[in-house]
Amino acid sequence: MNKTLRRAVIAGNWKMNKTPAEAEALINEIKPLVKNADCDVVCCVPYIDLQTALEATKDSNIKIGAENCYWAESGAFTGEISAKMLKTIGVEYVIIGHSERRTFFGDTDETVAKRTRGALDAGLKVILCVGEYLEQRDLGITIEVVRMQTKIALNGVSADELKNIIIAYEPVWAIGTGRVATPDQAQEVNHAIREVLAELYGKDVADTVTVQYGGSMNAGNAAELLAQEDIDGGLIGGASLKAPDFAAIVEAASK
Ligand code: 13P
Repeated sequence: MNKTLRRAVIAGNWKMNKTPAEAEALINEIKPLVKNADCDVVCCVPYIDLQTALEATKDSNIKIGAENCYWAESGAFTGEISAKMLKTIGVEYVIIGHSERRTFFGDTDETVAKRTRGALDAGLKVILCVGEYLEQRDLGITIEVVRMQTKIALNGVSADELKNIIIAYEPVWAIGTGRVATPDQAQEVNHAIREVLAELYGKDVADTVTVQYGGSMNAGNAAELLAQEDIDGGLIGGASLKAPDFAAIVEAASK
């Protein structure tokens, strides 16, 4: 099975939650619960928590990610944080193109592509988010939307650089709603993403790319989702803020 060609990655997206002190406490709670994980474990935390999280995970198998980055290395961009700055302090991953950035903060397919370029150039691993709104699903254009988002974001990304990219399929209607995609729905779109990758880079390369699912994934539904052929991990919001729940998802991905 091709699934064995790729590493499962479970990543928490803490969103705008946790002060540095709370972040340290949560990491310390998660650490012992995931230490024997047979998958990659990532916590993506607010900028202000990065230093604390890096320090707290130094002696562990947990990797730290940011939730966004700007593409220029430095300059007059008030309020922004560059990919290079993140790399400099030891951050390994960055989420790019999350639907909340697209919906509330004006991210477009084009700026997502620029951020992806900047992150790769800085040596970060990218968790690239794609996914449709409910209206788009109802119109029957989910696959078109996700294909387009994927192609624009990967414009100019080489097959070699693709090794540093994880794609997260996150249907917007499933985020924070408790309304999870069915395993079949998630598998269908994850498979379509892998098909786009195969068109762009060839099947052998596409088979090695980790494609996650995200959207109301929790301790109860993770195993069934992760058992799908093209679902290689999860991007977890709410459940990543509860150590036992996050650990249960890591456990499900380790099987
Ligand atoms: P929830 O798991 O809270 O639905 O959030 C998913 C998400 O947006 C992860 O990036």
